[in-house]
Amino acid sequence: MGNLGETLDALRSELIDAVNAAEGLDALEQLRVSALGKKGRITHLMKEMGGLDADARKARGQDLNALKTDIAAAIENRKSTLAQAALDARLMEERLDVSLPVRPESEGRIHPISQTIEEIIAIFGEMGFAVAEGPEIEDDWHNFTALNIPPDHPARQEHDTFYLPGENSRESGGGRTLLRTHTSPVQVHTMQSSKPPLRIIVPGRTYRCDYDATHSPMFHQVEGLVVDEATHMGHLKGCLIDFCRAIFGVEDLPAKFRASYFPFTEPSAEMDIGCTREGGEFRIGHGDDWLEILGCGMVNPKVLENCGIDSTKYQGFAFGIGVERIAMLKYGIPDLRTFFESDLRWLRHYGFSPLQIPSMVGGLNP
Ligand code: DAH
Repeated sequence: MGNLGETLDALRSELIDAVNAAEGLDALEQLRVSALGKKGRITHLMKEMGGLDADARKARGQDLNALKTDIAAAIENRKSTLAQAALDARLMEERLDVSLPVRPESEGRIHPISQTIEEIIAIFGEMGFAVAEGPEIEDDWHNFTALNIPPDHPARQEHDTFYLPGENSRESGGGRTLLRTHTSPVQVHTMQSSKPPLRIIVPGRTYRCDYDATHSPMFHQVEGLVVDEATHMGHLKGCLIDFCRAIFGVEDLPAKFRASYFPFTEPSAEMDIGCTREGGEFRIGHGDDWLEILGCGMVNPKVLENCGIDSTKYQGFAFGIGVERIAMLKYGIPDLRTFFESDLRWLRHYGFSPLQIPSMVGGLNP
């Protein structure tokens, strides 16, 4: 018996070696047939057991069955190794290189207003401002009253407001519903819904009943608001000077602040930047002229109180920027009305590539 056992051990390791060396599924199948098939070697040994006596046959049968199981298992094992290798090879071969550049076949362009807003967000984003939004349909209170523009205030007349039919619900303070005339009401929403410190900008659409080469009934503003315990006028000036230098790409751009009046700021100022006037055109930078670029000021304590913020503890500054004005100056667009005429030739000329997103590291308009 010992002799027969040794023969089986030799056969086992011979077959297992062959199985593990098989290079493909065909070779493996051939091996299976030659060992376990009808005329296979193990099958043959099983048939030979007929000549043994009962005890010997039982022992031999167990050995052969164990061998059969081992070989079948080795074949299954090898099969999954080969299948995995085949899959890996296929995955390597059929790999999709998603890093390939997109073919520039679409002619879509980014509108200069969207581009300018993205640039403004990139600059203030770098300074730690978050973007806030608010509704374009407002109530009297958010658009005017809370901003220290009471019902009989002359500033209301200057706003050429589009009023909507119907009254507001009593919960929102009653009064008329309107299309917001500036982005400043989002200051109010933000102060009502979050606690200081606040540092937000609000890009968005605004509406006034006005139409000529420099006015459109729908236009865009970016509001800014900072509220905390320590921010003062020096921060306002530094922040807005840095902004103008970054947006116009002029490092030593001259800037000055002129005293002005807005009901929601105290003191209020208008900011002018240096320019040269050539014919009707402006060139931003050193020159003998000044150009008004935005309105700003320290948030009026009355506004803070209207929004439930303790004005003995908190203070801050606000500003409002006209997006069309910045875009016209920066990109040499002479007539504001053309922004909203949807002329594709105009857009192809003044538009921007959708793949070049403004950022402080990548460049504002690469
Ligand atoms: N809301 C003003 C307007 O539409 C612009 C403005 C001026 C906003 C000064 C401000 C500010 O936040 O401080 O004319």
